[in-house]
Amino acid sequence: MKKLQAPRGTLDVLPPDGRRRLDVVRIADEVLSSAGYEPMETPVFEDTEVFARGVGESTDIVQKEMFTFEDKAGRSLTLRPEATAGLCRAYIEHGMHKLPQPVKVWYVGPFFRHEAPQAGRFRQFTQIDAEAIGSDDPSLDAELILLLDEILERAGTGPRRLRLSSLGTPVTRAGYVEELRRYLRAREDELSEDVRSRLDQNPLRAFDADHPGTQAVMKEAPLLLDRLAPEDAEHFAEVRALLDAAGLEYEIDPTLVRGLDYYTRTVFEFESERLGAQAALGGGGRYDGLIEELGGQATPGVGFAAGIERILLAAGEGERSRGIDVFVAGTGRDAFQLVRRLRSSGMRAQMEQAGRSLKGQLKQADRLGARWTVILGDEIEVKDMDTGDQRQAGSLDDVLGMVGG
Ligand code: HAM
Repeated sequence: MKKLQAPRGTLDVLPPDGRRRLDVVRIADEVLSSAGYEPMETPVFEDTEVFARGVGESTDIVQKEMFTFEDKAGRSLTLRPEATAGLCRAYIEHGMHKLPQPVKVWYVGPFFRHEAPQAGRFRQFTQIDAEAIGSDDPSLDAELILLLDEILERAGTGPRRLRLSSLGTPVTRAGYVEELRRYLRAREDELSEDVRSRLDQNPLRAFDADHPGTQAVMKEAPLLLDRLAPEDAEHFAEVRALLDAAGLEYEIDPTLVRGLDYYTRTVFEFESERLGAQAALGGGGRYDGLIEELGGQATPGVGFAAGIERILLAAGEGERSRGIDVFVAGTGRDAFQLVRRLRSSGMRAQMEQAGRSLKGQLKQADRLGARWTVILGDEIEVKDMDTGDQRQAGSLDDVLGMVGG
C-alpha cells in the first residue's frame, strides 16, 4: 500500500510546536490590539482575479506560484498566496470606507505558494498580517514597522536587520521604470536571459537577480529613491524621523524590491541572521493604489506580514513552558472528579489515562512538567514537584487548598 505523507512543502505541527505557535499569535494579539488593530478574516480561496489584479500579473507569485483550480461551475479560484489583496477586496465589498478611517485590522492564517520547498520556505505557511487602510499618514507606516519589531522581539527572534526604502507613487515609478529600461537596454548583452525576457514587463526585478553580470550592471543603475517626487520624499523623511525618534535602527536600501506589485512609497523587510537563504522574517509597505486597482475608490493603505514558521525557526527551541499544573496519579471516579474540580478552579489538570504503574505515573507527571502530583491511594498525598516535598491531604477538598486552586 502507498505510504501516505503530508503533501510536499507542507508541515504537520506537533506538540510542543503547536503551543509555541499559539504563543506567537498571543503576542501578536497583545501588541496589535494595543494600537487598535482588530482581528478580521477572509476566505482561504478567492476569485483568481483578486490576486492577478492585486498582487500583479508580472510577479513570480502570480506567474508561477499560485495554487489555482476551477470549481464545478468553471470559475477560476486560487488559494490565497497572501492576505492584503483579499482584505482589500473585503474592504470594498463591505463598504468599509464608510467606517471611521483608518480601518486597522490584523489576521493570522494559512497561505499557499507553489515554491520549491527549502529550509524556511513552505507551500503552506502561516502569516500574521496587519493592515491600516484609509489613511496615508506616515505615522501609520512607522507604527506598523514598530509593532512588527515588537512582535519579533517578544517572540524571541533575536538580532535582526531592518531594510527600508520608498518606491514613490506610480507616476514617479513609471517615469523611473522607463529610465531604468533604457539603461538596461543599453547594456542588454550583459544581463541574464531571465531579466532580459522581463525587461518589458518589469525591469525592477533585475535588482533581485543573482546572476553576476546582471548584478554588475545593477550596481551602476539609476535608483528610484533619487527620483522621488517632493511629497513622497517628504513622506519618507517623516517615516524615518518617527523611527529615529523611537530608536529603531534601519538601513536605507534603495534596491529593496518586494515580490508584490502593489507597493507605493514605504517598503520594508526584517531579516534574521539566524535564518539561511530564506532570511525574511516579515515585511510590507504602503499600497496606495491597490484598492482602486481592485475596483474601489482611491484609498491608501499600509501593512505587513510575517511568517510564523520563520519566526519560530529564528527563535529556536527556547524555554519549555509547563504543560500542566497538576497531575493526578490515580484512576476511577475520584480522580475524574478531582481533575474536573481542579480545572474549574482554573488549573490545568490531567489524570492517569493509560494504565501505568504508580512509578510510571510519577514519571509521566515529570514528563508533563507538572507543578504538583496528587497520588490517590489509600491515603491522598500531594507532591510538590519542584522541591520533592510530599504531604498528606485529609480529603479531596484539602487538595484544592494545597495546590493553590
Ligand atoms: P511577503 O514578503 O510576500 O509579503 O511575505 C511576508 C512574510 O511571509 C515573509 O517575510 C515570510 O516570513 C513569510 N513567507 C512568505 N512566503 C513564505 C513561504 N513560502 N514559506 C514560509 N514563509 C513565507 C506579503 O505577503 C505581503 N502581503 C505583506 C504585506 C501586508 N504588505 C502590505 N501588507
